[in-house]
Order: sequence, then C-alpha cells, then structure tokens
Amino acid sequence: MRLRSIPNGKIVQTDLELMHESIPIPADGQVVVKTSCASIDPTHRIWMNGSKKQYMDAVQIGDVMRAVTVGVITDSKHDDWPVGTRVVGFGGICDYYLGIPGVNVLEKCVQQQQQEPQRGGVDMDGTDLSLLELSYGSILIGLTAWYGVNKIMQPGYTGSIENEVVVISGGAGAVGSIAGQLCKLKGATVIGIAGGPDKCRFMTDTLGYDYAIDYKASTGQNGMDELDAARTELLTLKLEGKLIVQEDVREGIENYVDVVNLLFTGGNKGKLLLQINHEE
Ligand SMILES: NC(=O)c1ccc[n+]([C@@H]2O[C@H](COP(=O)([O-])OP(=O)(O)OC[C@H]3O[C@@H](n4cnc5c(N)ncnc54)[C@H](OP(=O)(O)O)[C@@H]3O)[C@@H](O)[C@H]2O)c1
Repeated sequence: MRLRSIPNGKIVQTDLELMHESIPIPADGQVVVKTSCASIDPTHRIWMNGSKKQYMDAVQIGDVMRAVTVGVITDSKHDDWPVGTRVVGFGGICDYYLGIPGVNVLEKCVQQQQQEPQRGGVDMDGTDLSLLELSYGSILIGLTAWYGVNKIMQPGYTGSIENEVVVISGGAGAVGSIAGQLCKLKGATVIGIAGGPDKCRFMTDTLGYDYAIDYKASTGQNGMDELDAARTELLTLKLEGKLIVQEDVREGIENYVDVVNLLFTGGNKGKLLLQINHEE
C-alpha cells in the first residue's frame, strides 16, 4: 500500500493506494520477507506528515506505508538469515518486502533464538512469541513503556515509585497499559485515564489499576453546579482545618516587580499575594 497524498487531518482512503506488484528478487546480502503482522501505531499519522519536522524521515508520496512488522523469510541471499526465519523489521503495509538485515530487517524473533534455551533468564520453551515480540518485546510499545517508567519518570522525594501515585493517560492503550502495569508491579498507586466505561473497567478489573477516570463521562452536573460544589468543599475543608492553604503575602505596591519576580526565582512558598492596602 503506497502513500498517495498527505492526509489533511483524518486519514482517508484516497491518501493510500493498494497496488499489485511483483514479489521482489533478493540480491546478495538481501532477503525477501512475507509479512505476517504489522504493528499499527499513532506514529503512522506522524510518518504521513510530509515535510513537517519529525523524529524519523517522513514516508514520501509513492512510498510503501511504513510499519513495523513480523514476517517470515521466503527467499534469501544471506547465509545468516535463511528461509523460514521469522523476523521483526520495518516491513511496511505490504505482503512482501525486500529486506536488508541490519537496515530494515532488525532482528530474529524470539522463537528463532530458543536454541539458546533461555533469554534473559526467562524460559520461553514452546511459546510462539512472534506477535508478542512485535508488540511488546521489540522496538515499540514495550520498550517505550519500560523506558518511560524506569528512565524518564522521576520518583518524587521518596526516591521510589513504590510510594508514588502515578497517573497514566491513554491508560487502556498499548503503551499506557504496559506502563500502568509496570508501575503497579513496582507498588505504586495507579490512576488510569481513558475514554468510556468499558476501558475504565478494563483498567481496574483486568490491569489492576487502583482508580480509573473516564474523561468522556458526563458528570450529570453543569459547570456552574460543579464550581459551587467545589468551592463549598474547599472552604469547608479549610475551615475544618483539614486543608493546608499556604499563603505568602508580601507588602507594598511599589514592590510589585520584586515580588512578581519571586515566582521566577522560586522565592515564594505557597500562593504569592501582594498586599496593596490594609482594610480599615
Ligand atoms: N506505539 C509506540 O510504540 C509508541 C512509541 C512512542 C510513543 N508513543 C506514543 O504514545 C501514545 C500512545 O500510543 P499507543 O501506541 O499506546 O496508542 P493507544 O494508546 O493504544 O491508542 C491511542 C489511544 O489514544 C486515545 N485517544 C485518541 N484520541 C484522543 C484524544 N483526542 N484525546 C485523548 N485521548 C485520545 C484513545 O483512547 P481513549 O479511548 O482512552 O481515548 C486511543 O485508543 C501516542 O501519543 C504515541 O504517539 C507510542
């Protein structure tokens, strides 16, 4: 399937065209891979963005649409990559592609590596892991989630995710569902955000999150009702001494510039206020 035009907003049928073409013939060092399954990711839309700056080259008009795939080598002129080998690669949305190991053929599927009885200490005997490899074990979803949780997320002053509350947007999605579970396994309290009650049930009942927020749900209240309810609750909690409201009050209109700049030097603690006049 080749890209015919850069989508304007939503991707429409005429942006891509399904072509009938001959199966490629490999030259020395090349293989032909028959695609089994393609990973479909939000980044496909980014890849279709033409000249807009992005993290990889855009798919050009006329190119086969890019996708990460699992497939089986059906023709080979490469001794290390024989016919029958299952591979993960940038195959694209197509039946067959010409593969160059190390370029668009990325790695052999876990199943091929079972001759080494264990990988990473996990017994994978007898399991067909090719799709798992495509989705979660390879370059995309699983590693994105793992990297986000283990390398980008900075546990707060406690220094450990175990004691944190983690909010996962897209919590029922591919990356989000893995990230949320990794946080749960580390002992965090996890709140997932997703659209619809079904996804919310999935997050709490299946993924084991502690709470779910359905961002599409109507609260049944109009905005003003909600605002009043919120004000009453905040005020009551403050009057009961249950809510700490830290204020940092400075004096004098003439000090406005120095006071406002406290916000950018971190000189304020709590809500910064400027007392301009004292009431009689
Ligand atoms: N796939 C990867 O390996 C990968 C790698 C790096 C970064 N990412 C990024 O991670 C994010 C999630 O990707 P994913 O592959 O895991 O996809 P995903 O979460 O499985 O699917 C996308 C989800 O986004 C939600 N969504 C769609 N439109 C929305 C909107 N307007 N507002 C709020 N939510 C909306 C929908 O869930 P609801 O029904 O809950 O709205 C939809 O199911 C994306 O931003 C993607 O670019 C993905």
